[in-house]
Amino acid sequence: MRRKMVAGNWKMHGSLAANKTLLDALIAAPAPACDVVVCVPSPYLAQAQGLLARTPINLGAQDCSAHEQGPYTGEVSVSMLRDFDCGHVIVGHSERRAHHAEADSTVAMKAQRALDAGMTPVVCVGETLEQRERGQTEAVVGAQLDAVLLLLGERIDQIVLAYEPVWAIGTGRTASPAQAQEVHAFIRQRAVRHHAGAAAIRLLYGGSVKPDNAVELFAQPDIDGGLIGGASLKAADFLAIVDAAGFST
Ligand code: PGA
Repeated sequence: MRRKMVAGNWKMHGSLAANKTLLDALIAAPAPACDVVVCVPSPYLAQAQGLLARTPINLGAQDCSAHEQGPYTGEVSVSMLRDFDCGHVIVGHSERRAHHAEADSTVAMKAQRALDAGMTPVVCVGETLEQRERGQTEAVVGAQLDAVLLLLGERIDQIVLAYEPVWAIGTGRTASPAQAQEVHAFIRQRAVRHHAGAAAIRLLYGGSVKPDNAVELFAQPDIDGGLIGGASLKAADFLAIVDAAGFST
């Protein structure tokens, strides 16, 4: 039985004041029945670490460097994230792939760095609308996945995967539960073919998850929770999504 997970991706939003209001509201809620992670912008790791200490909410980051250390201005290493008790890190988000030209191999290296540091990488995969309309969804997602499978080998069962169709991110246009399930099943089968332990990998769905569509999405057999962007910035919405995941655990 895979335990459900809900991870909030704040992206480049927040301030010291807004973060405190949001995190205080999350902390005040009843203990979640699933794993909960909030992935905050790096400058706020210390603040979030302080507020989340001794709470059931886990701290995550939104990216890490593929390098260990060195002359990489602006980058943040996994050991720096570990200094703030950061246990999770998103890698390969479509916004990083699109705006920072991150290749599948770079994303795989970041996932490897995270694992080496004892962190859980949340590896994002997903196709654009154009690719879906051309019937390339499985080819694109398969190639993104294969890069990670190749590099991580048997350690693949230690990661979390997030399927985020690019056309559903921040657009209000969610993949239907059936569309999402179809790709999730494809991902799981491909990963299991590579390594049997991959049956236990958690596969999150991301892309316009809201309180009103979360229950149905999370009820799909291969959807083990969600990676939440916009709705993770509103405490009531995020908590309702966390409840939806707990409900279907
Ligand atoms: P969204 O973002 O929930 O705002 O669509 C999801 C994501 O980018 O992780």
